[in-house]
Amino acid sequence: MTIKDILMGEETLFRNVEAFNPDYIPDRLLHRDLQMEALAMCLRPALRGGKPKNAVILGAPATGKTTALRKVFQMVEETSDKLYCVYVNCQISTTRFNIFSDIYEHIMGHRPPETGIPFSRIYGEIMKKLVQEEKALIVALDDVNHLFYSKNANQVFYDILRAHEVFKGARTGLFAIISDIEFRFMLDKNVSSIFIPKEVIFHPYTKEQMEDILGERVKVGFYPDVVSGKVLERISELTYSTGDMRLGIDILSSSGDLAEAESSKAIQIKHVEEAVKNISPSSLEGTLEALSPLESALLRLIANTPDDENTAGSLYQSLKKEKKISYASFDRALKKLELLRIIDTRFTGKGVKGNSRLVILRFSPEEMGKFLG
Ligand SMILES: Nc1ncnc2c1ncn2[C@@H]1O[C@H](COP(=O)(O)OP(=O)(O)OP(=O)(O)O)[C@@H](O)[C@H]1O
Ligand SMILES: [Mg+2]
Repeated sequence: MTIKDILMGEETLFRNVEAFNPDYIPDRLLHRDLQMEALAMCLRPALRGGKPKNAVILGAPATGKTTALRKVFQMVEETSDKLYCVYVNCQISTTRFNIFSDIYEHIMGHRPPETGIPFSRIYGEIMKKLVQEEKALIVALDDVNHLFYSKNANQVFYDILRAHEVFKGARTGLFAIISDIEFRFMLDKNVSSIFIPKEVIFHPYTKEQMEDILGERVKVGFYPDVVSGKVLERISELTYSTGDMRLGIDILSSSGDLAEAESSKAIQIKHVEEAVKNISPSSLEGTLEALSPLESALLRLIANTPDDENTAGSLYQSLKKEKKISYASFDRALKKLELLRIIDTRFTGKGVKGNSRLVILRFSPEEMGKFLG
């Protein structure tokens, strides 16, 4: 294949390449009806002159939190003019000034000047407009953990939630989105007195659900017959073994590219395996690299003990010999590993306080060992 062929070749397997972009919002968000309904219930009072309810949206990476939220916001703004729905990406906007500039922009239609204007003026103008238009405001702080790194969370939560104390009639609410259970506790510690949220949980997808979701993406993104049932099943298996939907979508588009480069009319298993070789190790490696020392120590311990002996209680006893830790922080580390889909836990029904939970590693100990050292 010449470079010209690569650039100009008309033959393609992709019906819609955009369906594989990271910011693509699918028309149908499968298996998230309950969560979207819960979010809509939080916003409902605001459409009738009341205050939106606060929520914390919790779930492992790539479980559809951002997508579900954006879809609900889209629907509200299409059907009602009683509520401003502002989405803030806290990885990008980390300061009080930047966050309120985002809100200002959404409400006023243009950004405030970057310099020479005090925070209080931006804030005041936003709140006055809400009161004057009799509209409520919901702010979704996505990946809100980044505000904890910059220590701005407290202030921003106060700014949003206590607006009514200064601006009579201002109706404001907040959705906090987190993918790391550790920060659920940070929220409690820091802002619990004013932020009493409803919890909306995004559970990890089952293998069948992943196959549905990937199958739907195949229909939108590829021409018919490009992806056979067998290939889809293989990709779903691989996706499930890492627990990462994003990886599945990446595999789909990369194996499509590989098949296309060979002028194949369909994606074959060999294209899938080839695509996986290029992406997958770094994904697990990246997850493991981000673990805290306690979480890595726990994981190492789990990997080095035979599966049927790994109960939560016995792991805690062994770990306590290595490190001085409380049961609560042990339990949080365990929950974090489960949330990241590195382990599964299963209740055996015996024991107290979840001590008899069986802990099962979702990867082979050898595979883990490569990265844990
Ligand atoms: N139920 C679903 N139906 C269709 N696509 C989905 C679904 N759930 C997730 N996806 C896709 O998986 C990818 C990750 O979703 P999303 O960004 O919403 O996850 P997230 O929970 O916000 O992850 P993170 O915590 O990493 O921000 C996106 O490409 C999204 O389109
Ligand atoms: Mg997200």
